[in-house]
Amino acid sequence: MDFSVKKGSPESQKTACLVIGVFEKKKLTPAAEAINGATDGAVLALLKGGDLKGKPGQTLWMHTPAGVPAERLLLVGCGDKTTLDDATYRKVIQGAATALRPSAAKDALCCLQDLEVKGRDLTWKVQQIAKAMGNAVYLFDRMKSEKDKDAIPSLKKFHFLVADREAVGAAESGSKQGAAVALGVALAKDLANLPGNVCTPTYLANEAKKLGETYKSLQISVLEEKEMEKLGMGALLSVSRGSREPAKLITMEYRGGKKGDKPIVLVGKGLTFDAGGISLKPAAAMDEMKYDMCGAAGVFGAMRALAELKLPINVVGVVPSSENLPDGAANKPGDIVTSMSGQTIEILNTDAEGRLILCDALTYSKKFDPAQVIDVATLTGACVIALGKQATGLLGNDDELINDLLAAGQTSGDRAWQLPLWEEYQEQLKSPFADMANIGGREAGTVTAACFLSRYTKEYKWAHLDIAGTAWNSGTDKGATGRPVPLLVQYLLSHTT
Ligand code: BES
Ligand code: MN
Ligand code: ZN
Repeated sequence: MDFSVKKGSPESQKTACLVIGVFEKKKLTPAAEAINGATDGAVLALLKGGDLKGKPGQTLWMHTPAGVPAERLLLVGCGDKTTLDDATYRKVIQGAATALRPSAAKDALCCLQDLEVKGRDLTWKVQQIAKAMGNAVYLFDRMKSEKDKDAIPSLKKFHFLVADREAVGAAESGSKQGAAVALGVALAKDLANLPGNVCTPTYLANEAKKLGETYKSLQISVLEEKEMEKLGMGALLSVSRGSREPAKLITMEYRGGKKGDKPIVLVGKGLTFDAGGISLKPAAAMDEMKYDMCGAAGVFGAMRALAELKLPINVVGVVPSSENLPDGAANKPGDIVTSMSGQTIEILNTDAEGRLILCDALTYSKKFDPAQVIDVATLTGACVIALGKQATGLLGNDDELINDLLAAGQTSGDRAWQLPLWEEYQEQLKSPFADMANIGGREAGTVTAACFLSRYTKEYKWAHLDIAGTAWNSGTDKGATGRPVPLLVQYLLSHTT
């Protein structure tokens, strides 16, 4: 979708659809006020009729309104004028996006950024709308032999209307940011929604190369198993040994900052299918383990958004990618492997494979001399139980980094919640035979997984995002969410300004 900013007044705009807000108790937003005046009170008459109460996100269409050149009006409920906060505002724009998606309108002109949201500026409001609209028109039908034409959204152009010249710049940066996030989210969703037999480690490596062709600012390199062996990545390779698909270690380098600026390194778990290995998972919903590469998808998405926005920072994306399958060559419970760091690991459960591929990628990341490292992984079922699908789990060894990520989550609406990484939890990883075990028992599974990773991240500032609960939806609306791309991009933006 194409996003742009226009200057003018709502009542004189020619558009297929004008999107305006109305509050509860028949109170009008500035745009609704203008339209009401030009249509001889049609908006207020409609509200008086009682079909639109103004609840946040509630919508009502009005076709060929007399007195204005717009072909349609989409009235969107905005709730109570005095208490408009982030959460309500998101409901409002989500309502508008949901109503617009099946509409035949090819373009729309939005006025919802004229609402006042506590503590938020025009750039933020426009960014939120652009992101929501970009997400709403997402469609994944690549694997269908016959495409459902009616499912393809008609909406191609989306304009933001602002009143004066001063507002144009602020709206334009919001529009660019939101559009870039939406593109990143779409890439993450596409990669994640693809099945495991299509989206293999090799497929991901090729997608990275394609990304490098589209964006000249991205430098791609791919390590093969032979090279990983030379580096001593015994943990990563032990997971891949049970699979016929070769593992890949993908690096995407973006150098938009100064030469000497230390990069932010993003590491994404790229398990393209996790059957659990010899510690085989139960059959129910095992198909969802194609989503075990959502950390990788998130890093791909963030790199795309970053390249779109041409941010003046240095960022490196590192994606270890493998399958985890049962096989004669696969890891067995009790096996001991040596990681690239030299530390030995007793594999008590072959289904705790994410940390095995991540620990070598985290050791490898040292070579970039990182300012900080953020890893993203669908790491533990325990995180789904602890936080559900609202919040991503967040742990790390640096308070400032943690707080910045929490703030980026609040701003973007793609929220994270911190869990403790206290020294006392480390005990659970004790092994009688090796330096550590790869599991820490039933208690605090998300914390002990992070404890495991913390043993490989001592030399830099590090944070870990467990996205097991937030990266995809199950059930009738099964599909990838594109999280945590909005959070990551917001974090990178906050490091630029
Ligand atoms: N990919 C899974 C984690 C997962 C499970 C994500 C369910 C989303 C939904 C990971 O590789 C895994 O299997 N973790 C185990 C660890 C356990 C063996 C310590 C888990 O969470 O059960
Ligand atoms: Mn697993
Ligand atoms: Zn896994």
